Parts: sequence; C-alpha cells; structure tokens
Amino acid sequence: MAEPSLDDLETPPTAVAELAAAALAERTGVVRHDIALTLGSGWGEAAERLGRTVAVVPAEEVPGFTRSGVPGHSGTLTSIELEHGLHALVIGARTHFYEGRGVRRVVHSVRTAAVAGARVMVLTNGAGGIRPHWKPGTPVLIEDHINLTAASPLEGATFVDLTDLYSRRLRGIARQVDPTLDEGVYVQFRGPHYETPAEVAMARTIGGSIVGMSTALEAIAAREAGMEVLGMSLITNLAAGIQSTPLSHAEVLAAGKEAEGRLADLLARIVAAVATDLAAA
Ligand code: HPA
Repeated sequence: MAEPSLDDLETPPTAVAELAAAALAERTGVVRHDIALTLGSGWGEAAERLGRTVAVVPAEEVPGFTRSGVPGHSGTLTSIELEHGLHALVIGARTHFYEGRGVRRVVHSVRTAAVAGARVMVLTNGAGGIRPHWKPGTPVLIEDHINLTAASPLEGATFVDLTDLYSRRLRGIARQVDPTLDEGVYVQFRGPHYETPAEVAMARTIGGSIVGMSTALEAIAAREAGMEVLGMSLITNLAAGIQSTPLSHAEVLAAGKEAEGRLADLLARIVAAVATDLAAA
C-alpha cells in the first residue's frame, strides 16, 4: 500500500500526523512531547532557553513536513527536555497559508504535535499592531481571532466550539509571569502582501487589534485535536496606515532580531510556568 500522503484527500490528515509523530519519537528518542511551540518571526531564540536540547530534526526528514519557505524560520523540529520530566517540541518549520500548498500542510505540525502527546500548543508570530501605543518589539497575548482567510482546516461536518480558543487559563498563567502583557484580537489575512490601510481600518472596525498571516488556522486545528492554545504576537511594526512609512519584510525581521533575546526569556518563563501547572495536574 502507498504511504499516506497529505495530497491524497481520501486519506485522513491524521494518518500522516501519526507517521510524523512516530518518526519524531524514533529520531528524538522521546516518546511523548507534552507542550508544542511554533516559533514565528522574532521568537526563534526561545528554543535554546527552554531547557536541554535533546535532538534537532530537519523538517524535511519528517513525513508531511517541508522546509520553511520564509527567511528567518529555522526549518527544524527540536525536542527539548523541560523541568518535571516533561518535553517540549519546538516547531521551527511553519507552512504559511499564502504558500498555496493547502491548509492541510499549514496545520500538519499542530496535528503532529497532538499525536505526539502535546496537551498545550503555543503559537507565536510576528505581526502588525493596530493600537498606536504598541511600539515595535511589544509582545501581546492573543485573546481571540478573526479568520479572514475564508478557509478552515476542518474537513467534513466537523463542528468545533471556539468559544475559549485562546485559553483564558493559559493567558492567566502568562500574565502571572508578566503582568504588563497586553491582549489583542488577531486578524489572519491570507497575505503574502501586507494589508492596505483600508483593510487595516476594516480589521479595527470589526474588532481586531493585530494583523498577520498565520496562527488562526493552526489554532482551530489545535482545538479540534483537543489541545489548549496559548497565542502570542510580537508587534514588529505598526500596521499599514497606522504607521506612515511603507512596510518591509526587512523591517519585520529587524524588529524581531532586536526583540529576540527579551522575548526568548519571556517565553521560557511562561513555558516553565505552564509546565509546572501541567506537572501538577
Ligand atoms: N501585516 C501582516 N503580517 C505581518 C505584519 C503586518 O503588518 N507584520 C508582520 N507580519
């Protein structure tokens, strides 16, 4: 029989996630990962601060994964030993919806993390801020999202409740670590072009405060898989029309680089607090 593929729509995507999780267990020697993290622009340095690196696996060696098409993303899956005997899976290989490879590939890492045992999915990104006082370099907790991609990772009549998608409980733990953390509503656009000022004005009118090109579809898949979601954005720039100068990917990367050390420290402290909570559960 042919190996299950994400391109075969007759095969459920979880079949490929099961293969991927098995490959990860074999390559890392870690049978169960408790927390998974996807590190977006500006968050890459966090991996090495979380704990002891057990193994780094090139993404293209795991079924269903491909190398990230975005400069600034590492293209690896890293297994890290945390305190309390728990393990984190750090995903540095995000597939974006705008790459046009289909929504199954966008959420494959999340489904793999769920099969690998993760109960908590931490989704991070670099994004544009709509609130003028969010200077580039500000981390913001995602409290909810608006999905403007017109897509869903769910297949068939799968009616999943999203009422508390970005877990209030996990946001509470994050705010115990850093009480200055603000919260905002993330609006996922398809991209890869940045938004027009009119689109940013619309996003604000409909209740958004952060604009970006990832995360919402992944969060939905995480919830379908039964995981608790923690979402965090690094504001790399003010959104189009909020800042008067044109946006550039170089500016986004530079803001990410500048904030990276601080963010890594913050994320490491939040993950340690979440791990302590999971270990006690
Ligand atoms: N819009 C969308 N995605 C982004 C932005 C933005 O302003 N900045 C970083 N990623």
